[in-house]
Amino acid sequence: MIPLLKKLEELRNTAFEELESLSSKADFEAFRVKYLGRKGEITSCLRELSSVEPDMRPKVGAAANELKKELTEALESRLNEADVKAKPKSKIDLTLPGRSHFLGKKHPISRTVEDIIDIFYGLGFSVAQGPDVETDYYNFDALNTPDEHPARDINDTFYVEDGICLRTHTSPVQIRTMENKKPPVRIIAPGRCYRKDTPDASHAPNFFQVEGLYVDTNVTFADLKGVINVFARRMFGSDVKVRFRPHFFPFTEPSAEYDFSCMICGGKGCRTCKNTGWVEISGAGMVDPAVFGHVGYDPSIYSGYAFGMGVDRITMLRYRINDIRYLYDNDLRVLTKL
Ligand code: PHE
Repeated sequence: MIPLLKKLEELRNTAFEELESLSSKADFEAFRVKYLGRKGEITSCLRELSSVEPDMRPKVGAAANELKKELTEALESRLNEADVKAKPKSKIDLTLPGRSHFLGKKHPISRTVEDIIDIFYGLGFSVAQGPDVETDYYNFDALNTPDEHPARDINDTFYVEDGICLRTHTSPVQIRTMENKKPPVRIIAPGRCYRKDTPDASHAPNFFQVEGLYVDTNVTFADLKGVINVFARRMFGSDVKVRFRPHFFPFTEPSAEYDFSCMICGGKGCRTCKNTGWVEISGAGMVDPAVFGHVGYDPSIYSGYAFGMGVDRITMLRYRINDIRYLYDNDLRVLTKL
């Protein structure tokens, strides 16, 4: 056998054996240089071709090139293998069941407030706001509620310090708005209120109201009744009935409380309406001239109506919740049902 062919045969055996034992990148590179490099074993064999008989040269040359090709391919495939092994295994287990996502929702009170605002926007009202921590002046005095009035009692009101309290209603926003604006005024003021009430099915120490105020020339009680009726229908549909009962508030004259027919029993009588068929929503009336005196409006030119609105009660009627405390407990069994 031609010695060079024999040498190539031996080279093939040792090279393939060696290739099997390699693992690191550096090993593979050293292998490539040793066998396939410009000064490597195969090149040196090709250089020795001149020592071979001329008619045998093509055969030996082809064998050398064939070995070069085989080794190059084998090295390539070992490198790929090593590359795949080097990659960390994926941490994602595709066989696990999927995780379900819990979608958040707006609190029912927020939804009711937004819907109330929408309805009043449609009636030409805009939204006004005032602070939760109020002065005696805005919460009581300017609303014609004198010092000796029971609402000012320490047992009914949360005082932060002398002369400063958590507002007991949204009515102080009436004063703040009128102080800053000449008539016509047409606002609603949604917000949180606080009273020292012991919690029960219909009382919570904090709750929500929406105040309404419209002052212009020639505003009458008929306008007030009209706007409350339109509101009731837009909120509860055309079956709802509205009634006004005479009442007293220091800051309105005449004053009334107003009720909606109970949407839970359809007016027949149930727990929520205490078997009366009616649910009290809040108070309302014509702005007392004494209040206009505090904000510099001339009562001989202007008249106006004001109303409150118990957001919690409206929410309870809409979603058929018979205890106000559910609204403040954050119990998901209640909140996710709505
Ligand atoms: N502020 C009164 C209350 O909280 C409700 C009310 C508002 C009454 C506006 C008359 C006019 O009970």
